[in-house]
Amino acid sequence: MALQIAIDGPAAAGKSTVAKRIADRLHYIYIDTGAMYRAVTYKALKNNMDLNDGPALAEMLRHTHIDLFAGRDGQTVILDGEDVTDVIRSPEVTNHVSFVSKHPELREVMVDRQKALAAKGGVVMDGRDIGTRVMPHADVKVFLQASVEERAERRYKEQIKKGINTPLDELKKEIALRDERDQKQLQKAEDAIVIDTTSLSIEAVTDKIMDLIKERVRSQ
Ligand code: DC
Repeated sequence: MALQIAIDGPAAAGKSTVAKRIADRLHYIYIDTGAMYRAVTYKALKNNMDLNDGPALAEMLRHTHIDLFAGRDGQTVILDGEDVTDVIRSPEVTNHVSFVSKHPELREVMVDRQKALAAKGGVVMDGRDIGTRVMPHADVKVFLQASVEERAERRYKEQIKKGINTPLDELKKEIALRDERDQKQLQKAEDAIVIDTTSLSIEAVTDKIMDLIKERVRSQ
């Protein structure tokens, strides 16, 4: 069976970790749509583009190749032939991505690409508008939530492991600010199941979603 699984939610809600695990268990393709927005933001910054110019950014995206490959430690992101997997996670890109992703002209091009990637099914896709715009007919739609405090703490632990020591309070502020900027894009589909991950482990969230998928398969 080649289902479409949509996972939406705010920054640092655990979407990508959980989506990757689900894709592994099902032997499906995982598509991190946030990485695609990050890649185009990286290119715009590198080329000193005006981040307020939606039409120019959309035009640039039309001439940009973004390829996602399943690597050993997650997803490898190739932008016009350059490996940008790590650099798209830099604070510089993270703090500018909402300014690029807010433009409707650019989103239209991006959503079309993502629809094409999802067309054959057998995909787990995560992002902000997956259940509403990219895969409105997805077989399972999940909306992950968690408090700002919890998300900041998770990010903090993640960064400490990588040797980055940003104060927790700063991370809280950053996440709250990104929530505010992403508000318009962040949409819960009417038929999405909300899972609050605040006090749940990654395994527990993964199991819950796997149960939803099994239920869906049984009812088909
Ligand atoms: O999931 P993430 O933090 O890597 O996403 C990076 C940014 O991209 C996020 O601030 C909002 C934007 N985004 C979006 O607008 N629509 C998506 N489908 C995915 C991400």
